[in-house]
Amino acid sequence: MQEPTNIVITGVSRGLGRALTEWFAARGHAVSGAARSRDAIKALNESPGPSGAFSELDLLDRPAVEAWAGTLTPPELLICNAGVLHPDTPFVELDAELFDHQLDVNVKGTANVLRAFLPGMMARGSGTVVVFTSGAGVRGYPEISGYCASKHALEGLCKSVAQEVPEGMAIVPYQPGVIQTEMLVGHYGERAREYPLPDQWVKSAGPALLSLGPEQNGQSLRLGE
Ligand SMILES: NC(=O)c1ccc[n+]([C@@H]2O[C@H](COP(=O)([O-])OP(=O)(O)OC[C@H]3O[C@@H](n4cnc5c(N)ncnc54)[C@H](OP(=O)(O)O)[C@@H]3O)[C@@H](O)[C@H]2O)c1
Repeated sequence: MQEPTNIVITGVSRGLGRALTEWFAARGHAVSGAARSRDAIKALNESPGPSGAFSELDLLDRPAVEAWAGTLTPPELLICNAGVLHPDTPFVELDAELFDHQLDVNVKGTANVLRAFLPGMMARGSGTVVVFTSGAGVRGYPEISGYCASKHALEGLCKSVAQEVPEGMAIVPYQPGVIQTEMLVGHYGERAREYPLPDQWVKSAGPALLSLGPEQNGQSLRLGE
């Protein structure tokens, strides 16, 4: 497969999305992305490295997501990376609003992005969509029930839509591994330091994501497999 040149990533302000943005841009790809953090978006737009347009955006704001997608060429690679993980709490003690927010951002926010970008990609008949799920999307873990529910939902969403896209496309639910980001530190505490930083992770993740294509459509994949 020819390497994509036009890449859109959600959640570019930090963690995996930021590392991917910088890695792809350094290799000549045109990267656009979005996140809510104003300062990080400003820094990306002013950086001499990442070439592209970065937008301050909440994925829950569906009209804003639609408007954002309308300003961009349908990407060859769309990475739905943005996500949240609620603090470790047993389900019966978990605030209902936190549970709902988990599903809102991870599932409905991602659905907003897919709804905004897929029609253009499908009309062209090419492109790969990667949705970051998790081990928690295929197995259960205690105290992160909302996160597990949301990531299982994303696996199902991808596998369903995979049967609707044209032959030249792919939508892939993808487990990125375990990486030392703010999200992991919030969940694992000190133990997070045992895991690679995003800048190390991206050296294997970047090429792996670029290699995905129609052969992987609908497959539940994990980095390194
Ligand atoms: N780190 C791991 O070990 C690991 C393992 C398995 C799966 N994952 C998945 O990988 C993805 C990235 O994780 P990470 O560890 O890099 O997390 P992170 O450091 O917390 O970064 C999350 C990103 O999502 C963005 N985001 C959150 N809510 C948003 C919203 N409503 N609208 C727009 N952007 C939003 C954040 O930007 P703003 O706050 O600026 O909006 C941030 O850029 C997530 O989907 C996560 O579930 C991570």
